[in-house]
Amino acid sequence: MILTLPNMPQEGHQPPRTKQPPHQCRNAKRDWIGALDASQLQMLEQQMRFEYARPRDVRDLGECYFYHTMEIPRYGFVNGQWDLRSGIRQYTGGADFHAKRVLEIGTASGFVCFYMESQGASVVAYDLSDKQAWDIVPFAALDLERALATRRNVIRKINNGFWLAHRAFRSQAMVAYGTVYNIPTGIGPVDVSTFCSVLLHLRDPFLALSNAARLTRETIVVTDTIVDVAGASDSHTAPSAETRPLMTFLPDARTTSPVDTWWRLSAAAVQAFLGVLGFEESTVTEHVQRSTWGDVPMFSVVAQRTSGKPLC
Ligand SMILES: C[S@@+](CC[C@H](N)C(=O)[O-])C[C@H]1O[C@@H](n2cnc3c(N)ncnc32)[C@H](O)[C@@H]1O
Repeated sequence: MILTLPNMPQEGHQPPRTKQPPHQCRNAKRDWIGALDASQLQMLEQQMRFEYARPRDVRDLGECYFYHTMEIPRYGFVNGQWDLRSGIRQYTGGADFHAKRVLEIGTASGFVCFYMESQGASVVAYDLSDKQAWDIVPFAALDLERALATRRNVIRKINNGFWLAHRAFRSQAMVAYGTVYNIPTGIGPVDVSTFCSVLLHLRDPFLALSNAARLTRETIVVTDTIVDVAGASDSHTAPSAETRPLMTFLPDARTTSPVDTWWRLSAAAVQAFLGVLGFEESTVTEHVQRSTWGDVPMFSVVAQRTSGKPLC
């Protein structure tokens, strides 16, 4: 089944792109600066230099790698690791994106971004580029530099695929590159943040959520895997039914794998994280999504802000 994007304009004339000025953060405090160490200063400098990415002019499928299976106008079918076409509504927790400003963390090839736009959202798609590093698990026995370089190559091709599709779908999404550990406040406030299949890949999922929460007015959507697709096994065969907030650490030194995935989180763990961050009202739904290695059971947590305010 092919996903149709009802509100998406057709391929053709690209509207002129105006550079959006970074949003001003009212609560910025200058007196912090003197107390910052070198790495904090570097992060601050990156924040202050924040600009949305310039669209890349990519037209050759050969320069791209697709994470998502998609039907791209003028290019046709591209095969990716994940085919979310029939389950995209469930994959995003059934959340309402109409007239919402959305921060999508980890857009990859953009299928979720383009879906949310088709539902009436204005999306800021945030992701790594080849200038940042994936949280590779630093096994002592691993050639870390090599693993990072290989990953950078893949990320460059995934970014390319996003831009090719962005152009073909005439997406209006703005793009910002960086890590979840330094989400620029210059993006400004958003109504909704999404973390679809991202937390399991992060060394510090709580820090990532808190960085997005400080920009989020209303809703955070987290989708993650119920069953460990990396093959690690333990006694929790159905962690989504687990009511305790559990995180299972997946990397195994004996097999030096997985190198790019850290956790299997229970939905209750995600709810507990989000509760601490002021998003205490949440619902959990379960669904099954299609991947190249078979059907994957997943959960989505949709959490509403109940206390606190965004930073900006
Ligand atoms: C498994 S893909 C999920 C793609 C998409 N969200 C989806 O659900 O189909 C993980 C995404 O998170 C991004 N990502 C991984 N680690 C990241 C980090 N430390 N900072 C920002 N993005 C990260 C990856 O580049 C990739 O786009």
